[in-house]
Order: sequence, then structure tokens, then C-alpha cells
Amino acid sequence: GAASKGEYRHFMQKEIYEQPAVIAAALEGRLGEHSVPAECFGPDAEALFARVEQLHIVACGTSYHAGLVARYWLERYAGIPVQVEVASEYRYRTVVVPDNTLFVTLSQSGETADTLAALRFARERGYLGSLAICNVPGSSLVRESDLTLMTQAGPEIGVASTKAFTTQLTALMLLTLAMGRVKGLAAETQADVVAGLRGLPQLVSRVLKLDGAIEALSTAFAEKHHALFLGRGAHFPIALEGALKLKEISYIHAEAYPAGELKHGPLALVDGEMPVISVAPNDELLDKLKSNLQEVKARGGELFVFADEGVGLAEEEGVRVLRLPHVHDALAPILYTVPLQLLSYHVAVLKGTDVDQPRNLAKSVTVE
Ligand code: AGP
Repeated sequence: GAASKGEYRHFMQKEIYEQPAVIAAALEGRLGEHSVPAECFGPDAEALFARVEQLHIVACGTSYHAGLVARYWLERYAGIPVQVEVASEYRYRTVVVPDNTLFVTLSQSGETADTLAALRFARERGYLGSLAICNVPGSSLVRESDLTLMTQAGPEIGVASTKAFTTQLTALMLLTLAMGRVKGLAAETQADVVAGLRGLPQLVSRVLKLDGAIEALSTAFAEKHHALFLGRGAHFPIALEGALKLKEISYIHAEAYPAGELKHGPLALVDGEMPVISVAPNDELLDKLKSNLQEVKARGGELFVFADEGVGLAEEEGVRVLRLPHVHDALAPILYTVPLQLLSYHVAVLKGTDVDQPRNLAKSVTVE
């Protein structure tokens, strides 16, 4: 039937709140007891995955950010070299394709002109095959790819992509585990991440309960003209996605940097007018991130940190800390996306922009 906002004020808000359910849908029928069988990618996937020696991932916008996260995952857990590129660059350059490379596209709509053109370009380049991770069944990308995995997010109406992204990440973790299984990832690690995936919808529900606290934070952004997002490792692309959301719907200029790059330039921008948002889950990079945060504080920057509840990071003058439930390292990028979605949503509502239909943008970019 016709899409309805139900009890929600905007489609974007509704779609943010649908995430526990759609992440569960993306996992439905795809998890083995302690591993992810390749069959969820199709009957021929197991034999194909065994031959894959590298991946080229191509996408646009938010889908590209999902690809960047997948690179960290696939190299760490499956030991497979991965290149990730925006489709509009990929399709117009000379690409060297090593033997046994799988071509992967990511797209909510399956109709993005550049991504589709990249797939058609790739078909002439001797890839092992093509895999589309997509949300729209029967879309051009799905019809033209050898293997497909549907993200099962349901229709996404808000121009700012939310549930499509977290279900893409879920699908990409399935790909990582399926590849990892074929490439010899330790059984214990596979089992831990599979257990983590089973608990993920519940954890996302808990993060959604931070909504009120994040709405309260959003007032600090409404009058600002710029914002800086920091992350490290697989959370750098999450910072990129946080910045894209803020730009798209609140029209605040936002940039994302890997935290370690701060002193190579962007630190010059930091003063009392520059809010700095950091995703700091409890992973191996936390100590390094803590020292980056000190650099920001020392320059009078206002800091907003999303951190694991177990992290010893104190609130103080100029440092606001929001605590997220503990999550398996591998899955933290999915969980830490949600508070950044809520933040940009509330800032946009405060600013009175057209949240679901931001100026100058279309839901899918079907012309170049
Ligand atoms: C995200 O919020 C955007 N509106 C946009 O970047 C989008 O992700 C991009 O156009 C790709 O679309 P697709 O996933 O449908 O291919």
C-alpha cells in the first residue's frame, strides 16, 4: 500500500526506528548455527568464493561508505585484498583487474546511473563475476549481476539513506563471514560474530533509547556552520557517513577525518565554533583516539563522543559523552551509525529543513 509515516513525523525518523526489524530481516534465513554458508549468495557462490583472490567494490554516496567499512572487515576477517571506489571515478579510468577478482556493487535503489554503468564497464574487464548487494528486487543492477544479495530493508522514502545503509553493512558482514569461512577464518571468530549478529537488532533498539539525549545534544549544533567528524579504522567511514547525513539534511558543512590525520591539517580549523563528533567504541584504537581528543579540547573545541559504556572517558567542561551498549568489535560500525543518524535528524528538525526531501537532491540519481 501507499507508504505511510504512521506515528512518526518524518519518513527518515520512521526508517531510523525500523532498523532493529530490518536488520533482523536481513539476517533471516542466512545464519548457520556458527557460521554463514555461502549459499545465501546463490547456489554457485561457494565454488566462486573459493576462487576469489580480491574484490573491487563500487558504489556511490552512502553505499560507497558501506563499501569502505567492508574493506576493513574483508581484509581483517577474510584476508582478501579489497579496493573500494566511487562509481563515477571507476567508470572513467583505466582499471587494472588482477586475476580472480570479484566485482561488487552496492546500491539501495539498484538504479544509480554511475553504478549501473560501472557494472556494464566491468563486464568487459575480465572479472571472475559480479555480485550486487541491493535493496530493490528486480532493479537493473540485480537483473544484470551474476550473484545478488537483497538487503531486505523495505522501501526507503527519505532521501537521506538510513536503514538501507545499516542493512547493507549487515549484508556485507554476511559476505565477510561467508568469505572468511571459505578462506579459513577461525571457527571461534565466526561463531562469535554470528552470535553478535543475532543480538544486533536488540542492541540497535537499546541505542534508539538514546534518542532523547541526542535530541538534547542537537541544540548545540543548530547555530553552527561547520562540524568535524572523527573516527579510526572501520569507524572512519562511519564518521564520513555521519558527516554526509548532517550535510544532506541540515545543510551544515561537515567533514570527516581519520582521527590520526587531525594534526596534518584540519586541527587548524578547530576552535570554539567547531563542534567535533567522535565515534570511540572500545576497540584497539581507543587509546590513540583519546590523545586526539585531547588535541581538540586543548584548542577550545566542543567535543561530542559516542563511546562504549565500558570506556573510562569522563564528561567534563567541553566534553559530552554518550554511552552505547557493549558490542562485538566487528559489529560496532553498524551500532555507531545509529546515534549519528539521530543527531543529524534532530539538528535538521531544529533548523526546520525539509528532512525527507532535502533541497537539490533526488532519492536515486538515475541520470549522470
Ligand atoms: C544518501 O543519504 C544519499 N542520498 C546518496 O548518497 C545515496 O546513497 C547514493 O545516491 C547512492 O544511491 P544508491 O544506494 O541507491 O545507489
